[in-house]
Amino acid sequence: MSKLDLLLQQAADAIRLARRVVALTGAGISVESGIPAFRGTQGLWEKYDPMEYAHIDALRAHPEKVWRMLLELHTLVRDARPNPAHLSLARMEKKGYLRAIITQNIDHLHQDAGSSFVIEFHGTGHRLACMSCGERYPSQEMEVEEIPPRCPCGGILKPDVVFFGEPIPWRALIQAQEESKHCDVMLVVGTSAVVAPACDMPYLAKERGARILEINPEETPLTHTITDLFLQGSAGDILPRLVDLL
Ligand code: OAD
Repeated sequence: MSKLDLLLQQAADAIRLARRVVALTGAGISVESGIPAFRGTQGLWEKYDPMEYAHIDALRAHPEKVWRMLLELHTLVRDARPNPAHLSLARMEKKGYLRAIITQNIDHLHQDAGSSFVIEFHGTGHRLACMSCGERYPSQEMEVEEIPPRCPCGGILKPDVVFFGEPIPWRALIQAQEESKHCDVMLVVGTSAVVAPACDMPYLAKERGARILEINPEETPLTHTITDLFLQGSAGDILPRLVDLL
């Protein structure tokens, strides 16, 4: 038995014995759906400086420039489909082994895969929000005819996602904190775990005694601090194998 097979067995045992399992996911889980992650050599932040493109002040100051990047991202996300990692988490929920997913992703792929309890920590790309009146619109139904797109009130529309400099949607923050405090296993998948407050969730869980299982091809700041089992590899390979063992 390889070291990874042994770790997979141990992870499956921990999940089977747990009362509440919660997953925290990041951009890495959608890489195999064709959406690039943010950090690393292939990452979006290599091409676009986040302070110039992902800060709310940048959108306010240069809406046309930022919207050109957003449209590129929108096309990638619109055409993406759930991969075996998303489908495995949905299967895990159906089998009764997964209570909730806290995701930093805005791509809706967990819901598309069939997961029903998904906490969207950084909002959703499925809606646009008016920066003046706050009205929200489903983004699929919006034809972006002008850049930046505008609300009937004249305000500039933005994807209903969290930009740097913006707070986390309060409902998602409270739900995520509650789920983190009350789980006894947290599965951390495809996140570099460096963006707060999302990266605080595994610490909240650990503080209350949860075991931390991490799936990532690379080590993160969690790996040698609070991770109990590090399953090194891609989510699309590891998660189906893990769920098969349940
Ligand atoms: P990152 O791009 O920071 O990290 C992606 C992680 O996924 C890295 O640790 C990779 O090693 C890992 N990874 C890559 N391919 C993978 C695969 N096939 N399977 C599993 N893991 C893989 O993305 P996040 O941690 O999600 O926030 O970034 C957090 C936040 O930073 C994002 O939500 C976004 C960004 O700025 C906002 O826009 C507010």
